Amino acid sequence: MTENTTTALVTGANKGIGYEVAAGLAARGMTVLLGSRDRARGEEAADRLRATGADVRPIVLDVTDPDTVQAAAGSLTRLDVLVNNAGISGPIGPQPSATDARTMRAVLETNVIGVLTVTNAMLPLLRRSPAARIVNVSSGVGSLTHHTDPAHYISGLPASATYPPSKTALNSLTVQYAKELHKDGILVNAAAPGACATDFTKDLPFRITRTAADGAAIIIELATLGPDGPTGGFFDDAGTVPW
Ligand SMILES: NC(=O)c1ccc[n+]([C@@H]2O[C@H](COP(=O)([O-])OP(=O)(O)OC[C@H]3O[C@@H](n4cnc5c(N)ncnc54)[C@H](OP(=O)(O)O)[C@@H]3O)[C@@H](O)[C@H]2O)c1
Repeated sequence: MTENTTTALVTGANKGIGYEVAAGLAARGMTVLLGSRDRARGEEAADRLRATGADVRPIVLDVTDPDTVQAAAGSLTRLDVLVNNAGISGPIGPQPSATDARTMRAVLETNVIGVLTVTNAMLPLLRRSPAARIVNVSSGVGSLTHHTDPAHYISGLPASATYPPSKTALNSLTVQYAKELHKDGILVNAAAPGACATDFTKDLPFRITRTAADGAAIIIELATLGPDGPTGGFFDDAGTVPW
């Protein structure tokens, strides 16, 4: 690890939006730790980025497995940027009344509790950074305002007890971390990448033209905020997303 280089960790970065965030942060001169729960997938993705000249290193990290998170934290000497990107959609289809607790728990475990586990493990390192940034990758479907605005397309999506509430909870967690960490100069924000064509969305019954790189742009922007940047906010390409 190069102590002099700004260092970023992106969880779930072996593919999709996280991979593009890793590529974008490396292109800005950062050393990037490419988090992957699967060692081989992480190494393959890191090799692809290194072939472009990027300083990218794979790191095994399953956000639902505290042992891998602690091992990852213990292997680092510097961390300036944490992007909590790893996420799962859970099953698409069942209405809240048909959702069992096990299914709900699995989505919350990755999308919310995983963020808590990783963030708390990385905080001692982040606190030593001169300008730490945390970006939680949320979603527009985490916005209660959108779900209750008849004019917004999100209000017309089928009801779901799992993924949207997990991102609403993640937004709330973002605000609480921002409150706590403001005194340490750590800026914490949530990003809505917008619907992007990744494995995450491949089973949806409509075509998505926005790319993973398009979705990564707002995350990269929040990961590279200057000292006067916002904290405790929720942003997409167009600006502030209503809670
Ligand atoms: N795509 C969209 O339209 C969209 C829109 C709004 C928000 N988002 C959010 O953007 C983030 C990335 O989504 P994506 O579209 O890039 O999805 P993706 O292509 O399915 O990638 C998800 C990544 O998360 C990893 N992951 C899942 N569970 C994990 C765990 N327990 N520990 C560590 N890594 C784990 C996956 O690893 P494996 O390869 O091992 O499965 C993969 O690397 C998610 O938080 C998602 O909610 C996506």
